[in-house]
Amino acid sequence: MGKGFFLSKPLGVGCMILGTGAVATIIALSVVYSQEKAKNDNQVLPTDGGTTTKPPATTAAPSNEPWDKYRLPKSLLPQQYNVTLWPRLRPDPTGLYIFTGETTVEFKCVEDTDLILIHSNKLNYTDSASLTSVDSGVKAPSIKSSFLQSETQYLVLQLDGKLVKDHMYQLYTKFTGELADDLGGFYRSEYYEDGVKKVVATTQMQPTDARKAFPCFDEPAMKAVFHITLIHDIGTVALSNGEQKETSSVLIESQNVQKTAFGPTEKMSTYLLAFIVSDFAQINNTMDDVLIRIFARKPAIDAGQGQYALNKTGPILKFFEGYYSSKYPLPKSDQIALPDFNAGAMENWGLITYRETALLYDESFSSNSNKERIVTIIAHELAHMWFGNLVTLRWWNDLWLNEGFASYVEYLGADNAEPDWNIKDLIVLNDVHRVFAVDALASSHPLSSKEEDIQRPAQISELFDAISYSKGASVLRMLSDFLTEGVFTQGLTSYLNTFAFGNAVYTDLWEHLQMAVDNNTGTQLPDSVNNIMNTWVLQMGFPVVTIDTQTGGISQKHFLLDPDSTVTEKLEFNYEWIVPIKWMKTGVIHPTIQWLKAKSDTVNEMKTSEPSDWVLANLNVLGYYRVNYDQGNWDRLLIALRDNHISIPGINRAQLVDDAFNLARAKIIPTVLALETTKYLTEERDYVPWKSALNNLDFFYLMFDRSEVYGPMQNYLMKQIIPLFTYYKNMTGNWSTIPAGHMDQYNQVNAISMACRTGLEECSTLTKTWFKQWMDTNKNQIHPNLRSTVYCNAIAAGGAKEWEFAWSEFQKATIASEAEKLRSALSCSKQPWLLNRYLEYTLNSTLIRKQDATSTIVYIASNVAGQSLAWDFVRARWTYIFNEYGGGSFSFSNLINGVTKRFSTEYELQQLKQFKADNSEVGFGSGTLALDQSIERTISNIKWITENKQNVLNWFKAELKLYEASS
Ligand code: BES
Ligand code: ZN
Repeated sequence: MGKGFFLSKPLGVGCMILGTGAVATIIALSVVYSQEKAKNDNQVLPTDGGTTTKPPATTAAPSNEPWDKYRLPKSLLPQQYNVTLWPRLRPDPTGLYIFTGETTVEFKCVEDTDLILIHSNKLNYTDSASLTSVDSGVKAPSIKSSFLQSETQYLVLQLDGKLVKDHMYQLYTKFTGELADDLGGFYRSEYYEDGVKKVVATTQMQPTDARKAFPCFDEPAMKAVFHITLIHDIGTVALSNGEQKETSSVLIESQNVQKTAFGPTEKMSTYLLAFIVSDFAQINNTMDDVLIRIFARKPAIDAGQGQYALNKTGPILKFFEGYYSSKYPLPKSDQIALPDFNAGAMENWGLITYRETALLYDESFSSNSNKERIVTIIAHELAHMWFGNLVTLRWWNDLWLNEGFASYVEYLGADNAEPDWNIKDLIVLNDVHRVFAVDALASSHPLSSKEEDIQRPAQISELFDAISYSKGASVLRMLSDFLTEGVFTQGLTSYLNTFAFGNAVYTDLWEHLQMAVDNNTGTQLPDSVNNIMNTWVLQMGFPVVTIDTQTGGISQKHFLLDPDSTVTEKLEFNYEWIVPIKWMKTGVIHPTIQWLKAKSDTVNEMKTSEPSDWVLANLNVLGYYRVNYDQGNWDRLLIALRDNHISIPGINRAQLVDDAFNLARAKIIPTVLALETTKYLTEERDYVPWKSALNNLDFFYLMFDRSEVYGPMQNYLMKQIIPLFTYYKNMTGNWSTIPAGHMDQYNQVNAISMACRTGLEECSTLTKTWFKQWMDTNKNQIHPNLRSTVYCNAIAAGGAKEWEFAWSEFQKATIASEAEKLRSALSCSKQPWLLNRYLEYTLNSTLIRKQDATSTIVYIASNVAGQSLAWDFVRARWTYIFNEYGGGSFSFSNLINGVTKRFSTEYELQQLKQFKADNSEVGFGSGTLALDQSIERTISNIKWITENKQNVLNWFKAELKLYEASS
């Protein structure tokens, strides 16, 4: 036991588990710490005191050695860890930030083995590892040789004898790692306060970076109890999943430092761990016995920016306790806003991390949209405290259930916290419509993946996509609806109780829901939960249900955006689904769900007899499918929209527009029929249908803003938006106030941004004047809700002066949501040189934070003037971007989708294919699928333009003629 502590003796850190009398088998597992970042790739060098074996030569040839497999063998199960980490918030003499650590892991042997594989990535072992036996009378074998296998990210220990089944052992290691600014594992975040640079040490473990902080069995089913200790400077705050138990000042390596030990965690997965050292401030309150704290930079806390999150957390926790019928399992709930953070937020158990925009709210800077993001993201992460953290899916292939579930119930939690906002309606726009666009491609994929198909970290990262999140959320919402919420939550509670502190697979949830169904005689299903859900989960895509109101015939067909695309996937369910149909006839809701279980069926009630009768199906878009009708019914729906649009529920008005536009893109109905659904918009005042229309018209902008269709389209859309613009102008006393309702506030922004987009002069004058006032007076009086669109329009209309002003305001911004608005607006310039310079800034992390680099490039690509510049930029620097900015899970697919979404010519298609070929060596990581989807989308866009351009042009012209004749 004499060996192995890098900390001074009096500390005795980490010795709790290492029992005396154990035979310490010391091996020389050591790496001379390379101070060169580039060489920080695990290498094993001999040191004094033992034998070291070199790693087997890394060859491309497939090997069957256990350390070449990405999944851990099943022989060892971790029970508990003692982890001590010391992040250095000041650079060492060579300018490098590092952390040091030591850990003891106690594990049970469940199968005799002479091999220990434990995950370890980019860690350097500075001292000997030792293996001891916990059980008296059992001797631990010695470590014969050891090496680091960097491809599969293992520390490999080969033993000279067997570990014996049913016995417990402890492995002690001591290591150092770089506290890099790479946003993964144990990393550093930096910010300036009063001109002084501050450093935070923080973590992002999900999915596979806990192994970058300390050696661990880094798989979600390898749950254990963690005893964490952090060493940190006096005056700084140390946080982790557990409660702070002991804190003492100690002298280590002749430095006076603080040692904070945390109480043991519950049994949990490694990806949910968090360690943070900062000098942040906090505010707190309690909900029942749970301590709730919000941490952020001192000035942010002093300015009250954590208050909104603090006020909402308790009620949301309480709501979920009720929803799950399960008490919050921890004594505290910390939430912290970090200046550098890759995702939006991360559900570490008891210590949730956020990017600043997702947690901090300031009335004078934050918009209603910023506020909504905060409340929904808090609800999302708190939902995971049970679903995901208490009960964890066994392997990443079931990630969709974890993320899909949280993405569904976040609306319930947020709705409970802000009951006046009608937040639940937004799932249709934000999730159902969003994912329909991807899931209609032949290159989509099913929700569920096979466990064996998900192995490498990049494959895991790729699963964090719109399918997992938004399709997951959509089908779970459909399921909860057809089971009824009471049955759904009953099954959920029984699932959580059964698997608490353990792991499950998605079919376990189906089983518990089935039990709830069987207990409730009132619930009538056409088949088992499993059989119904299999059709949605195991096959990709979704159906379009066609209703013929003349015959009552209903049928279903796989909806493909490009009908000529071919689906090669094996047809287990033959692309048929068990479809729950809620419907109404001429405003009267049909009392029961109509199930479509086969390719087609006849429903006599769906026949219409009266000439004015219409049928509308998929009420409130609770089902994950599109609906098409016979032409007569479409005509009657269009009349209903025109004459009395409120006879159709708002969400369904949004749906009629979205279905029509997409059915037209798939050549199922004529494009002019889709355009017809926009005519009634002069009467529409609601946000959801307007947003749906604008999203669909966005596609028209993407396809036509470089062609002759653009002029007539602009004139038509200006005519359509003017009534909404005038409506809000009147409602707000000539823009001097803000509408009261949340959705109205959104729609006011729609009115302004669309009016400006179509070139309405009154609008551009308004935005230019407001922005100029700000520049002239240095006082920003633009309401936070309107800032994004006002800034963007003013910068687009302006030149270098406006751009530079916004840039300096961006650099000065003290709240991240203001910086975010400016960062986005800076991409709106029409000046190529400004855009090109801005592109260069994105790869300089002192100007644009790494977390924001790819989204800034995407903003620039969304601007018609920046599209080709951004594409050239990304192509030219792919290798660099891939290596330096590849960590983010969403960012790569977003980047590829973003820079290619306007592609609609043969030339662009060739470029895209060339890009794929040129970079096949470098790869596309988590953006691999996105690249194929972009190719498919481009092909479909090319065809769509060829087939539709003339029709669309004629339609806009004819509409304008009619309008001119009538006015
Ligand atoms: N578990 C994720 C965070 C995450 C994402 C970690 C990708 C690793 C890779 C978290 O629960 C999450 O989903 N966050 C979302 C926000 C949510 C409201 C959709 C995010 O970060 O955008
Ligand atoms: Zn999540």
